[in-house]
Amino acid sequence: MAAVKYSLDEFISDMTSLVEALPNQAKLFGKGSSHLQRLIQNPDAIPEEYRMPTGSGPRANHGSYLLHQAPSGLSITAVVWGPGDFALPHDHGTWGMIGVVGNSLMETRYRRMDDRSQDDFALLEEDRVGEVRPGEVTLLIPNIDEIHQMNNLTDKPTPEIHVYGLDLRGWDRRQYNPETGKISHFSTTKWDNC
Ligand SMILES: [Fe+2]
Repeated sequence: MAAVKYSLDEFISDMTSLVEALPNQAKLFGKGSSHLQRLIQNPDAIPEEYRMPTGSGPRANHGSYLLHQAPSGLSITAVVWGPGDFALPHDHGTWGMIGVVGNSLMETRYRRMDDRSQDDFALLEEDRVGEVRPGEVTLLIPNIDEIHQMNNLTDKPTPEIHVYGLDLRGWDRRQYNPETGKISHFSTTKWDNC
């Protein structure tokens, strides 16, 4: 008999229990990333329509779909980067975990070098660049290691699962220009499926 694969519902349940237990950050990321790694080993656990770009609208080559939003703030989304799609350097203002479900994505991480005293300026230094592959999980650690740029340099869509500690809709976030230092504020207004 084939082993039963880890489902999206089981992942949501495990993450809900984990977050409700109010773990410290090490435990949250340790247990949380092992749950996420299990989930992304089985791409079929994610509905097929959430593994492709929307194909229409202002950002047709991208997709962001809400899979679960808990009252605690726990937010689980599927994000798809079409060929050539990208996001400029930005932060999240909450803890997060990103797991690549298929294909790959180039991620550039930045360190913030200034004293954070200005609302519209940040001195960024490139920390590392790497290709993130299926089955791999990266962490977003608030104020420490969370500013990143994403680029899909391939000719196929890259689906990911993003897990955040709060509902990003309406949450004030920052986008950075590493050349000029300028900070622009932005927020996610809605997901593509709700
Ligand atoms: Fe991000």
